[in-house]
Amino acid sequence: MWQQYGDIYRCYFGPFLTVVVNDVPGIKALLADERTSDRPDLFLFRATDNNKGLGLSNGHVWRTQRRFALSTLRDLGMGKTFLQDTILDQVTEVLKIFSDTNGKPFNPKILFGQSLANVICSVTFGQRFEHNDKHFLRLMELFAENNILAGFNRPLQIFPILRLIPFSKFRRDYLALMRNINELHEFIGVLIKKHGIKETSDGVRDYVTAFLQTQELEKNNPNSTFDDEQLVISVRTLFGAGTDTTAGTLCWCLLYMIEHPEVQRKVQEEIDQLLGNSQLVTMEHKVNLPYTEATIMEVQRNSPAVPATGRGVTDDIIHDGYLIPKGSHIAVNMYGVHHDARYFPQPETFRPERFIDEKGRIFRPDAFMPFASGKRMCLGESLARMELFLFFSNILKHFDVRAAPDCHISPNDVIFGQVNVPGRFELAITPRRL
Ligand code: HEM
Repeated sequence: MWQQYGDIYRCYFGPFLTVVVNDVPGIKALLADERTSDRPDLFLFRATDNNKGLGLSNGHVWRTQRRFALSTLRDLGMGKTFLQDTILDQVTEVLKIFSDTNGKPFNPKILFGQSLANVICSVTFGQRFEHNDKHFLRLMELFAENNILAGFNRPLQIFPILRLIPFSKFRRDYLALMRNINELHEFIGVLIKKHGIKETSDGVRDYVTAFLQTQELEKNNPNSTFDDEQLVISVRTLFGAGTDTTAGTLCWCLLYMIEHPEVQRKVQEEIDQLLGNSQLVTMEHKVNLPYTEATIMEVQRNSPAVPATGRGVTDDIIHDGYLIPKGSHIAVNMYGVHHDARYFPQPETFRPERFIDEKGRIFRPDAFMPFASGKRMCLGESLARMELFLFFSNILKHFDVRAAPDCHISPNDVIFGQVNVPGRFELAITPRRL
């Protein structure tokens, strides 16, 4: 539609006027505008999140809770080295499980999901699960199902009345989604109750502790947004937003390495030259591993886990001579920008070098926006970038990745949900001899 109608056009999704934006200056300007900081007011968003949590809430609740979440995650060391140990624990476990596969084909998606959920678990509760814990496995299953059931573009979002048709798929999907949400909320509620306020001797507070302490401080404030339901939904948002996105991206990384063995070799050579034999790659090495970082960026450009995002417009906006009316929706096409030859010449070619400048340093063009942009951009970007770097570099340092025999793999095989993850695939890994 962009090729036919240009950088900005409007269409209707059912009753919702939606303005689709495809160009970088337009996206940057609109996403920076206060009048686009709401999420669209959609039926399923209301049913599952009730204007609470971090991802789908709006107005005063969203503003207060986003500020709180950012400052709490910053205190916990997001983007700094404090979290590194937590992530590296999970990396070490993954490396061990990889090595136990003995070259047998497997799909790493669930394993990545569990490891990344454990990082979020450490951030929120200061504890982690065993990978084979049956509650943990169930939690992962519920999130994966909801990813498919709750996307922006489900017919149910647009025509909620469909859920009332007896015995229909719409009704089944709706009931399944609500059952999953209730189960998740109950489970998280029990964890929070058991956890209570816990402050460690070195003053590090996990998310739940920081929230409960603020709730206590604000107990006489009638406008406080720190209620019990808010905490449950915020924790669910952090798990939901922070697990499948990064796990899916890591799967994409390995798939692209299978498609482009020459890139895989170059990443390994860069790491070998810097680190030699034994140790783990850490964040301190990142500045000297530009090709490795550029490779992750090139994967995110080609297959962004979140290909588009949506906003609700709270007041009339005149943009580039067009009226975007109050109450309409904006759809931001990050996938389109990432594949637009104006911003990325020969966009279908996989070429990490495009993100390295002439001095050999990483270069982040404005058009690269896997975490979106503006006031509502990804809240976990620094954590996600740290996770992607530590997992990817350490996996390639220790293993060669190749396709499993008889397994056809293609980056075009995608499961479309709120997050785009690779379709069914298996890969085989063999330890590298260093
Ligand atoms: C590769 C991994 C990730 C990708 C590609 C990604 C991408 C995105 C994108 C595109 C958005 C929508 C932003 C917008 O509408 O402008 C978003 C929102 C969000 N992300 Fe991430 N994300 C990732 C990892 C994480 C992690 C690890 C966390 C948890 C700490 C997280 C937490 C959130 C939250 C809470 C929101 C909602 C923000 C809001 O509405 O204010 N994300 N993410």
